Formats: sequence, structure tokens, C-alpha cells
Amino acid sequence: AGRKFFVGGNWKMNGTIESGKKLVETIKSAKLDSNTEVVIAPPAIHLLLVKDALSGVEHVQVSGQNAYHKASGAFTGEVSVTQLQDAGIPWVILGHSERRTVFKETDDQTAEKTKAALDAGLSVIVCVGETLDEREKNESVNVVVRQLNAVADQVKDWTKVVVAYEPVWAIGTGKVATAEQAQEVHAAIRKWASDKLGQSAAESLRIIYGGSVAAKNCKELATQNDIDGFLVGGASLKPEFTEIVNARL
Ligand code: G3H
Repeated sequence: AGRKFFVGGNWKMNGTIESGKKLVETIKSAKLDSNTEVVIAPPAIHLLLVKDALSGVEHVQVSGQNAYHKASGAFTGEVSVTQLQDAGIPWVILGHSERRTVFKETDDQTAEKTKAALDAGLSVIVCVGETLDEREKNESVNVVVRQLNAVADQVKDWTKVVVAYEPVWAIGTGKVATAEQAQEVHAAIRKWASDKLGQSAAESLRIIYGGSVAAKNCKELATQNDIDGFLVGGASLKPEFTEIVNARL
């Protein structure tokens, strides 16, 4: 569909300076699909190190895992969208389910952060997804649409947004959504985008899947019409990440 395949590696709160450097070496020495955009999200304290280690590597960029919407001020412990931009970090993940569940971030806060990040010139991976309980109540699409509407009310420019569909029950559990389950929600998200943002925005919007993606399941997921890539957690800490980047080869 002309959308560039996109694979993010979310390291979450894992690793050391040494292990981060090793992972970068693995990525650098692999032959990566040049048609895939790769974005690595290390912990904030390792961002600049990883960015520098990756300099000159084509198609691979770095991302924050979260950011605060205010540019600066008395917000102890936070890193701002403006500071990411200043440090040359082009991407940020927002609304990850761990931010929503562990740190109680709301739809509105995610929307506010997304707006601020785009205003600061960053590109955003905005995460949505239902819990197991919501899936069992057949609420998956409703939940995702509610989360997306909150963002859409604040965001005008969707060309710098990637939507990550991450069903909470599939994150870190080894329980990957089937290709059909994922495709069904991805198609619903594209339909939502078409209704809300217009057909051309919907056609160019990258919708990536996250939740227990691994080398062994990525190829089948990648064949689905509306799956434009992955947001990888656990497997992004292993050499198999490069196989996931190459899912379409
Ligand atoms: O951001 C990544 C997702 O939370 C997926 O994590 O691949 O470890 O299930 P996982």
C-alpha cells in the first residue's frame, strides 16, 4: 500500500551501558532490509549513547520511551519533549500501556503529550490497546477508538504519527495475537482514520502491532494488509530483533 514498513525496538527499563552497546553492535553488523524504518527506544539515560553509537547507520533512528509535555520547569524526574528535540532524538513513544496502567496516564494526558511532541518537532509512536477483560467483553475496537479519538482531538498533523496497536494481554506474555486478531483491529483503526482524518491520511498512516512479537511469528503477521510493522519489546533485546526488522524479506 506504499507505506514504509516500520519496526520499533522498545527496550523498556532494561540493560546497562555495556549491553546497550552490544545490541547496537548486533544491529550494525546485520544486513537490514533497506525498505524498513527502524527506531530503537533505549532507556532515557542511554539515549545519547545509543544515538551516537548508531550515527551513520542508515534507516535506524532513536526514540524516547515517554516525555513530559511542558518544555521546562519544576517537574522533578521528567524529561521534556523539547529536551528530546534539543538532543537530536527524533521520535518518542507515548501512551504505552505501561505508562497507562503502571503510571496511571490517561487518554487526555497521552493526547496532550502527543500534541506537545509534534509541536516540538518530534515524530510520535502513539500506543493503544485493550486489556484481556475488555477483549472478552468485545470492547477491543471501542477502547482503541476511544484512545485514538482523545489524540485526534488534539492533533492536526498525522503524517508524523505512527499508531501502535498493542493488546495489553499480549504484552510480555508470550501470547501473541493471531494474524487475524491483529488484522481485524488494524483494519478497524484504518476505518476509524478514514472516517475521522480522511482517506488519504488513513492510507498513509502506519499502524504497527506490538505484543510478544518474535522472529517465529513476525512473518505471518507481516503478511496482513493493515499491519505496517511492529513495536517489539522483549525480542528487541536479543539478536533476533534483526530478523523481525527483516520480516518482509
Ligand atoms: O512496546 C512494546 C510492547 O509493549 C511489546 O512488548 O514484545 O515484550 O510483548 P513485548
